[in-house]
Amino acid sequence: MDRFLIRGGKKLQGVVQISGSKNAALPILVATLLTDGKCVLHRVPNLRDVRTTLKILEYLGKKISYQKNTVTIEANGQLKNNLPYELVKQMRASFWVAGPLLARFKEAEIPLPGGCAIGVRPVDIHLKGFEKLGATCETKAGDVVIRAKKLTPAKIVLRFPSVGATQNLLMCACLIDGETVLENVAKEPEIDDVVAFLNKMGADIHSDDKGRLIVRGVKALHGAEHTVVADRIETGSYALAAAATRGEVTLEGCVPEHNAILWDDLQEAGFKLDIGKDFVRVHAYDGEIKPLRVRTAPYPGFATDLQAPWMTLMTLCNGTAEVDEDIFENRFMHAPELVRMGAQISTEKSLARITGVKELSAAHVQSSDLRGGFALVMAGLCAKGETEVERVYHIDRGYERLEEKLTELGADIRRYNPDKDEF
Ligand code: EPZ
Repeated sequence: MDRFLIRGGKKLQGVVQISGSKNAALPILVATLLTDGKCVLHRVPNLRDVRTTLKILEYLGKKISYQKNTVTIEANGQLKNNLPYELVKQMRASFWVAGPLLARFKEAEIPLPGGCAIGVRPVDIHLKGFEKLGATCETKAGDVVIRAKKLTPAKIVLRFPSVGATQNLLMCACLIDGETVLENVAKEPEIDDVVAFLNKMGADIHSDDKGRLIVRGVKALHGAEHTVVADRIETGSYALAAAATRGEVTLEGCVPEHNAILWDDLQEAGFKLDIGKDFVRVHAYDGEIKPLRVRTAPYPGFATDLQAPWMTLMTLCNGTAEVDEDIFENRFMHAPELVRMGAQISTEKSLARITGVKELSAAHVQSSDLRGGFALVMAGLCAKGETEVERVYHIDRGYERLEEKLTELGADIRRYNPDKDEF
C-alpha cells in the first residue's frame, strides 16, 4: 500500500488551485439516477470516492465517461435498484442512492453502511424520513429493503441536521407529487450545490424564510449540465498547511465565504489573510500562534472535517488550545499519531487539549481516516526530518493530486509503495 515520505521544515509558498468539492460531487453524481437524460458534470475531482461512485452508477446501469474532471452520464437501459455490499462497504455515501431509487422504482435494497473509523454513523434519520414519505424500511441480513406502494408528500423535521439525510430525502421528494417540507436540514454549501443541480434537472426546490427546504414534486427530471462548487474542506486544509509551515500561499478558485469561521479563527490566532472574491492569501507569519478553543458544529459552525488539520496547527501554539469534536464520536485518531511526532495532546471524550510545543519531530505514522491523514501530512511538512505516513489510501479519498499540489508549493513529498518500489 502507498505511503508518503515527507522531508519537512520547508515553508509552503505559491499558488494552489482548489478542486471541485468531493462532498458536492458525490451527491450530484448520485442525483443523476433520478433521470434517464444525459448529465454533464464539470470540475469533478479525480478522487477514490468519485471513482467508487462512478463504479456504483455503472453497476446500477449508467453509461459513464470521465475525461479531465468532466463526467458524462447517460442511460444505458433499465436501472437496477439494489447494490452489493462490496461497493457500499467502500464508501458510506453510497447509501445515498436509496433516495433516487425509491423515488423512481418505489423499491430499493441497499446494504446498511457500516460504521467507519470516525464513528458508528447510523442512518436512522434517513430511514425515518423515508417512512414519513410513505415507505416501509425492513432490515434483514445487513441490508435494508425500502419500499412504498405510493410515496406521499410530508413535513419532516430532522432530529439532527444530517448532511446525508438531507441529500437523500431531498432527492426522494423531487418526484413525489405535492409539497414536501424538510425542516432542521443541513445548511452546508454542498446542499445548495445539489439543490442547484436538481433544479437544473427540472426539480422545484426552494428554501423558505425559516430555512426549511420546500420541495414541490414533478413528474420527471431531465438531464442537465453543472459545474461542481469549489471544495471548502480542501481550501481550509491548504490554508492550515500554509499557516502551520509559516508559509505564504494563495488559494485560488475557492469560495471564501464557505470558510468564514476558519478565517476568523486563523486571524484570531495571529495570521494575516487577504480575503478576495474567489481567492484567499495566507501571509507568512513567524509570530506566536495564539491558542484558541474551537467547537465543531453543523455549517456555518467550525467544520468537523477541518478539526484534524486545525489540531495540527494548534500543536505549535503558544499555550494550551482546546478542540471540542461535537459531530462525530471518535474523530481524534490523529491525536496519538501527532503525539508520536512530539505533540502534547490529551483527549477525553469529545474534548482534546493541545499544549503547544516549539517544533514537531519526524516519525513513522499511520492515517486512520481521510482528514486525520491530511493532519499527519501537515505535521510532516512542519517537522524536521523525514516523516513516513502510511495508509495513504485514506487520503486519496478526498485530496486530488495532493503530492503534486504540495510539491508545487515547495514541499518535499514523495509517494512510494514499499511492496513495489525500490527505495
Ligand atoms: C457528510 O457525512 C460528509 N460526507 C462528511 O465528510 C462530513 O464530516 C459530515 O457530512 C458532517 O459535515 C459527505 O458529504 C460524503 P451527517 P454524513 O449525516 O452525511 C449522525 C469527509 O471527511 N447521524 O451530517 O455521513 C452521524 O453519526 C467526510 O469528507 C445520525 O445519528 O454526516 C454524525 O454523528 C467525513 N443518524 C452526525 O449525525 C443519521 O441518520 C453528522 O452526520 C445520520 C447521521
